[in-house]
Amino acid sequence: MHKTIYISAPATIANLVCGFDVLGLALESPSDPMQLSLSETDGLRIHHTDNYALPLAPEKNVAGAALLALMQEWGKPIGLDLVIHKTIKPGSGLGSSAASSAGAVAGANHLLGNPFSKEDLVRFAMNGEKVASGVKHADNIAPCIYGGVTLIRSIHPLDIVPIEAPPMHVTVVHPQIEVRTSDARQILRKEVQLKNAIRQWGNIAGLVAGLMKGDYNLIGRSLEDVIIEPVRSILIPGFDEVKKRCLEAGALGGGISGSGPSIFMLNEHRQTAKTIEKIMQEIYTRLGIEHKTYVTAVNHHGVRLSDKPFTEPTH
Ligand code: HSE
Repeated sequence: MHKTIYISAPATIANLVCGFDVLGLALESPSDPMQLSLSETDGLRIHHTDNYALPLAPEKNVAGAALLALMQEWGKPIGLDLVIHKTIKPGSGLGSSAASSAGAVAGANHLLGNPFSKEDLVRFAMNGEKVASGVKHADNIAPCIYGGVTLIRSIHPLDIVPIEAPPMHVTVVHPQIEVRTSDARQILRKEVQLKNAIRQWGNIAGLVAGLMKGDYNLIGRSLEDVIIEPVRSILIPGFDEVKKRCLEAGALGGGISGSGPSIFMLNEHRQTAKTIEKIMQEIYTRLGIEHKTYVTAVNHHGVRLSDKPFTEPTH
């Protein structure tokens, strides 16, 4: 058993356009470095070395809430010290809270000798999502823990299905505006028209089939959301232009990352992903909105653990 474990918890893209609350994908970057140590002093202590002023009281901290759930199920006294350095900006739509929660429980599981399954870890980490957005959803947590693309077929009972995916390059732009997940959920209509539901479930099935067959054309055709995106995209300046121009430039498709404000595009080729980054930068520079971009790839391993600190560049 190791006394300290170093953790690298990846950013994730939830929803994957048509799969609201049921599909998610892990990214190679950005990722959050964390450090978790066993202590002789019982209880949980949380430290942040970033400048985000996130709550440190375990029950109010997303990683803390996840760890408390794990500690309760472990059932024996245990002391843990967690150090978090956020590089995935909270509120970016890139699964920042999921990275903290999932990374923390994956690290604790390792320190305890791996008594819990990946599904258990998702269940614990969902308590962090409840703290962050008021709702337990797993579409960021599951890909963060499993890697790749995951389908959350059901939350009650938890049923997670990892989906094979072909190599894909991902371009993300994060306009530096604030969209709170709780607000972005509040504005959604509670009822859906049958004709829209039919279109949406056709797209979800098409997307899953396209990923499993490695059929880029089918993936692209299925990246359409007729339910959530028309409502939420109003909160993101430049969204329609970004989407139109990226599709014209050869992206397979994309949309709002999580509840926004980040926008992502999936690409078959890295060169297209780079071209699209320039288009995104050009649009937000013209709109006078500060922004950050990433050109990255699908992460197939999820949270990484090491006995030594990670030396990869942070974003
Ligand atoms: N599925 C969630 C949503 C992800 O879109 O509200 C945000 O964390």
